Amino acid sequence: MSTGRRDVLAAMAATEMTVRTVAPVASMEELSDEATLRPKNLEEFIGQAELREHLRIVLDAAKARSQSVDHLLFAGPPGLGKTSLAGIVAAELGVGLRITSGPILQRVGDLAALLTDLQDGDVLFIDEIHRLSRSIEEVLYPAMEDGKLDLMVGKGPQARSIRLDLPSFTLVGATTRIGLVAAPLRDRFGFVGRLDLYGDDELAAVVTRSASILGVEVEPGGALEIARRSRGTPRIANRLLRRVRDFVEVRGLGTVTTATASEGLTLFGVDDLGLDKVDRSILQTLCVRFNGAPVGLTTLSQVVGEETDTIEEAYEPFLLQRGLLQRTPRGRVASRAAYLHLGLTPPLDALF
Ligand SMILES: Nc1ncnc2c1ncn2[C@@H]1O[C@H](COP(=O)(O)OP(=O)(O)OP(=O)(O)O)[C@@H](O)[C@H]1O
Ligand SMILES: [Mg+2]
Repeated sequence: MSTGRRDVLAAMAATEMTVRTVAPVASMEELSDEATLRPKNLEEFIGQAELREHLRIVLDAAKARSQSVDHLLFAGPPGLGKTSLAGIVAAELGVGLRITSGPILQRVGDLAALLTDLQDGDVLFIDEIHRLSRSIEEVLYPAMEDGKLDLMVGKGPQARSIRLDLPSFTLVGATTRIGLVAAPLRDRFGFVGRLDLYGDDELAAVVTRSASILGVEVEPGGALEIARRSRGTPRIANRLLRRVRDFVEVRGLGTVTTATASEGLTLFGVDDLGLDKVDRSILQTLCVRFNGAPVGLTTLSQVVGEETDTIEEAYEPFLLQRGLLQRTPRGRVASRAAYLHLGLTPPLDALF
């Protein structure tokens, strides 16, 4: 190879490329707490027992062989721990972590700059990997498979294609929509870990751990009450813990108990099942406004005032898991349990 890495970087700099990092949508409070509350190693990562066991084996095997780990893909609804796992993989291997995301990586140069800047063994984390453009994916394939970077340098008659050797690296991808990850990309991951919604006991353990880090006194009953209303999601459990902490502090109630947790959460509009305003608005739309008829996703999103993606990724998994909603070929339908939860009488012909 006649062209050095420095020449290529200079050529890319001339094409005015930028590398930015992800900016997840969250409050500042949530962002700073997420950093402190994030589990740092696999032992601190609660729940997902099977995934954790598989990952332990993959990591230990690579460590024993002193090789970099195969590329890993984590899939599941928001807030279940995908980003945390990427950090854990890098920490367990004692290597650097570079973070970016599908929608941010717009130009081939952006990806090339990131790849050529990696140290041997580093983890490159691409969040929302289902949103990568085709042209970026094309560059990623040889990088993942052969550790090569194919680039076109220059324009017009001077344009030439060059192939660079990359440092060995582990790509960790995360997606809330595994179905939208292109099959050739999915196939290039050596391990795909799916994260499921957490059980109440697991979430109670998350609450207890976070409370001790934040210095909040929580009785086991209080932790379970917060867990029960957290929609199977650690991020929500942490958020509700902070609201309950505010509530007990302002009211001078001291320790978080079952009763204070329940009272505080109800005050903040989180009902007994953990449904918030948007969840209830979805069910209300199906049960009352459309009177039990199947409703298409686009219509639902317009009435509720949330993006279709948000409804599909963030709200529906829990409503489906709790049997409150069903997807039928003709649209979304609420279940008998949904009517009862809203204090309504289910229609006689309710589907389930
Ligand atoms: N297994 C776990 N044990 C303890 N805490 C967890 C666990 N999973 C997630 N958390 C907590 O939930 C927060 C959100 O997790 P994380 O950011 O990893 O989720 P995510 O799957 O990447 O979400 P998104 O899809 O929105 O990016 C973390 O900051 C951490 O505090
Ligand atoms: Mg994330």
